[in-house]
Amino acid sequence: MTASNSTDSDLQDRPHWPQIVLTGFMGAGKSTLGTLLAEHLGAPFYDSDSLIEEATGRRIADLFTHEGEARFRDLEHQAIASVAAQPCTVLALGGGSLMRPDTRQLLYSTYIVYLAISAETARGRIANPADRPLARTARFDELLALREPIYRSVASMILDVDDELPTVTLARVLAKLPRNFDKL
Ligand code: S3P
Repeated sequence: MTASNSTDSDLQDRPHWPQIVLTGFMGAGKSTLGTLLAEHLGAPFYDSDSLIEEATGRRIADLFTHEGEARFRDLEHQAIASVAAQPCTVLALGGGSLMRPDTRQLLYSTYIVYLAISAETARGRIANPADRPLARTARFDELLALREPIYRSVASMILDVDDELPTVTLARVLAKLPRNFDKL
């Protein structure tokens, strides 16, 4: 990506920008930022966990416990496929979704923003591990170390967001979008 920047008003005037996808570890603030970003751009917002819950009528933790992680990942892939690469939309991903190569492939033509946090920040931010099954069992340091190279390899933009307010991150994302964003 080029280093030249775009302003808020530039982006709102552009009718054909690619889907913006937010990725990162649990607790990175993907859904919060996604909501703000979509509101700011007047664009539809999707959240892969919410899509799964709407499609199945079940909570993520319930699916993990009773169907297992492999089934959850299939549902996640289907949910992402249903909205993947729709231009002029914002999509927040579950933190493990990009570990599957076929799910990464769905997002090949999108603009992926990686919100990077440390394992320590993730632990501190996850107030209720009951909602996040992996937070109950997995070792965050090891899981993040496994995932980090993949997040980085697919990202068009990488932002360290430890200790940052979502409104500040929003301004940083908008400022860093390349000037030719609508031609990507
Ligand atoms: C997961 C992250 C969760 C959710 C599920 C699995 C993961 O989403 O998809 O609990 O594997 O990291 P968030 O990243 O929004 O917490």
